[in-house]
Amino acid sequence: MRRLFLMICCSTLLACESGEQSPGELDGEALYLQACSECHGSYGEGSNFGPDLVWGIGDQTYEEVVDTILEGTDGMEALDLSLEAADAVATFVIEEIRGE
Ligand code: HEC
Repeated sequence: MRRLFLMICCSTLLACESGEQSPGELDGEALYLQACSECHGSYGEGSNFGPDLVWGIGDQTYEEVVDTILEGTDGMEALDLSLEAADAVATFVIEEIRGE
């Protein structure tokens, strides 16, 4: 009986977790931590290697952030990310880091 209960628990848990993200959707936060946090800090607070993004991106639009990621700027090298990954990261930066 106990075992059956556990099995039901696990399968509903799994169902919930996979239901959170549709297949193929990328995790912007994980990508940010991988590709950006080294220079911009885990919370976008900046470091010796890159500016604060919380205030630094000012009113840059989503497109401008994607452009910065894919094309780079004078001071930041372009990053080798797919358009989908850049999209997920830019969304994370704007919504979570800048907090819109
Ligand atoms: C190797 C260090 C480094 C990495 C990695 C890096 N950046 Fe940057 N980033 C910089 C520097 C340095 C600047 C400032 C460039 C300038 O002023 O022209 C910058 C500028 C920016 C800006 C523009 C801010 C402004 O003031 O206009 C954005 C947006 C940005 N980065 C986002 C990202 C995102 C998102 C990632 C990860 C996908 C990332 N960066 C990864 C170093 C880095």
